[in-house]
Amino acid sequence: MRALADVSFAVGPGRILGVLGHNGAGKTTLVDILSTRVRADAGTARVCGWDVRSGGSQVRRRIGVATQFTALDDALSGAENLVLLARLLGATAKQARERAAELLAAFDLTEAAGRRVKTYSGGMRRRTDLAACLLGRPEVLFLDEPSTGLDPVACRQLWDIIKRLAGLGITVVLTTQYLAEAEHLADEVLVLAAGRVVAADTPTALKRRLGSQQLTLTFPEAWHGDRALQRLRGLGLRGVLDPRSGAVVLPVDGGGDVVAAVRAVDDERLPVARVRVTEPTLEDVYLTLHGAGQVSR
Ligand SMILES: Nc1ncnc2c1ncn2[C@@H]1O[C@H](COP(=O)(O)OP(=O)(O)O)[C@@H](O)[C@H]1O
Ligand SMILES: [Mg+2]
Repeated sequence: MRALADVSFAVGPGRILGVLGHNGAGKTTLVDILSTRVRADAGTARVCGWDVRSGGSQVRRRIGVATQFTALDDALSGAENLVLLARLLGATAKQARERAAELLAAFDLTEAAGRRVKTYSGGMRRRTDLAACLLGRPEVLFLDEPSTGLDPVACRQLWDIIKRLAGLGITVVLTTQYLAEAEHLADEVLVLAAGRVVAADTPTALKRRLGSQQLTLTFPEAWHGDRALQRLRGLGLRGVLDPRSGAVVLPVDGGGDVVAAVRAVDDERLPVARVRVTEPTLEDVYLTLHGAGQVSR
């Protein structure tokens, strides 16, 4: 089986690329290949101008990678972790201490710096991880699902940091399962499904295709849904049938669309069992961009 196929993209300096996809979509494989941890069987990729195959050590010198699993030593303090890693990168003891202190301060970790990482919250751990990634002053940062497992406050804090780093000119490639995260952070979004790119767009364009909200109409029987789709199409509202629930899902922009859609199915005397208006999710991206039932998880 191919983990990735026909994936092609470019990211400029100081830009944030969001790689959006479910579990198993190929996000980690993509990060592993670009960060030279895994060799692709075919295809080419360049990072900072260097080929990942022939210029691996040049690439590694210019990147920072935060995987889903932290590389920190739980038994050491945050400061000790950073000093140790800085020393491994060739810094003198004094340089390492200074750089560690600087990064800990930048990430609001000064107070916790002397405590063992074991006692850190998920958000603090993730910030320490990120600080460790920056020790080598990378030009490109790869962050594999940085917000997974974080509470909303820690998430926001992380997002602010990521934006700040991009503002300093660091290119960020981050993977996520959350549409809202990609929309909030990324300059460009690559949607991966089963190892393929199903969309490559700006968040604004993606939003336009998805609508600002999603209307879900559930009917007692499948033919009701089919009939509703036809009728809605006549109104210029393009919905899809969700194969899992049998519900009709359509992107809508504001209350006017919702009222028009509900009125139309009512005119057809179709019995609506349930009406729901929600923010679009990754599910809706797959459903809307790829049509019903074409994307397997
Ligand atoms: N080295 C590899 N070679 C081939 N297939 C792999 C390799 N590593 C992972 N896979 C498969 O590739 C798919 C994508 O995995 P992964 O990149 O981990 O997805 P994600 O990070 O989006 O959850 C999975 O089906 C996985 O089993
Ligand atoms: Mg992964």
